[in-house]
Amino acid sequence: AGVPPLDRRGRPLRDLRISVTDRCNFRCAYCMPREVFDGNYTFLPHASLLTFEEITRVAQAAIQLGVRKIRLTGGEPLMRKNLERLVGMLAMLRTPDGEAIDLTLTTNGTLLEKKAAALRDAGLTRVTVSLDALDEHLFERMSDSRISVKTVLRGIDEAARVGLSPVKVNMVVRKGVNDDQIVPMARHFRHTGHVLRFIEFMDVGTTNGWNMAEVLSGAEILRLLRAHFPLEAVKADYRGEVAARWRYVDGGGEIGLITSVSQPFCGDCTRARLSPEGSIFLCLFADRGHDLRALVRSGADTGALAARIANIWSGRDDHYSEIRGRESSAHRKIEMSYIGG
Ligand code: GTP
Ligand code: 5AD
Ligand code: SF4
Ligand code: SF4
Repeated sequence: AGVPPLDRRGRPLRDLRISVTDRCNFRCAYCMPREVFDGNYTFLPHASLLTFEEITRVAQAAIQLGVRKIRLTGGEPLMRKNLERLVGMLAMLRTPDGEAIDLTLTTNGTLLEKKAAALRDAGLTRVTVSLDALDEHLFERMSDSRISVKTVLRGIDEAARVGLSPVKVNMVVRKGVNDDQIVPMARHFRHTGHVLRFIEFMDVGTTNGWNMAEVLSGAEILRLLRAHFPLEAVKADYRGEVAARWRYVDGGGEIGLITSVSQPFCGDCTRARLSPEGSIFLCLFADRGHDLRALVRSGADTGALAARIANIWSGRDDHYSEIRGRESSAHRKIEMSYIGG
């Protein structure tokens, strides 16, 4: 253990996405359609969730193996009680060279205004907020909730104000649903310091009714934007960056395009995902995970956990987005609300 492993395609482990809950106060149709996630749906009981101590031990082992970025996800991560306590514990972790890691969070923003300062104080580095529309009616329809866009916008601004910046804003684009929001969203977030990112609608899970006809490609999104605002390409921050970056020529800031359908980025995929119950998933489209909870609960130390994770990572061959459509449609897939993207 301790030697950074490569997977079967030569990719190192750099990012750990930790899903802390399968619950959410939204019911986005593309993620948690209300027909499925209704009053009868059984969410995970608290006892089966990894505790903050257990999550921290897994994270520490992963850092020994090369992880330099940790992202908390859900469901909606801010629905997990006292999440700032977990943030505080993860913020204390150090790489073998004594460095802190990049510690961030993907949230729907509804609880962010209240929690931003506490999260920053606990050691969070920055946040990413999902927002699919500025139009209130459309937003209500897409999130299937009564929460106002204004609440999310206040959360974004508060996060930036307390220093969780730059705030990234994720917009999932569905053709014929919210593509008319692309330009208004761009106009709204220009010159704010926030980085708006457009995400191609993906076939995550099995309940979101995905259809290629609803995907607006990154190239088409870019063409639309360039008709309104002059843009120039910016080179990637680091190998394996998910978003292709562009900047407004007039100094209005940056945007990103996440093209996992039209231009897959599996070749550089360095991400592992930890489920709320303590299973490692090696791909967003995996059909099963590798249980770590039993080992964690047996009292295994960091070395033993690192050895197990290294073993799991070494066997990884995932590249789903490169073979999308060539797979059998019967392929089972994990749900987004469970694994957090
Ligand atoms: P930063 O740019 O460092 O802030 O992180 P990120 O872009 O990796 O994180 P974020 O959670 O904001 O991801 C943005 C979108 O890309 C989400 O919709 C994710 O589901 C999607 N995404 C992230 N990682 C992967 C991946 O490995 N495969 C695929 N297909 N999609 C991904
Ligand atoms: N396709 C693309 N992005 C999605 N997200 C959730 N479901 C999908 C999907 N089917 C986004 C969320 C969030 C991020 C983690 O993933 O809106 O911004
Ligand atoms: Fe909740 Fe995010 Fe899924 Fe929407 S996409 S239901 S906000 S977890
Ligand atoms: Fe990584 Fe799987 Fe996404 Fe490809 S499809 S980039 S292997 S998570």
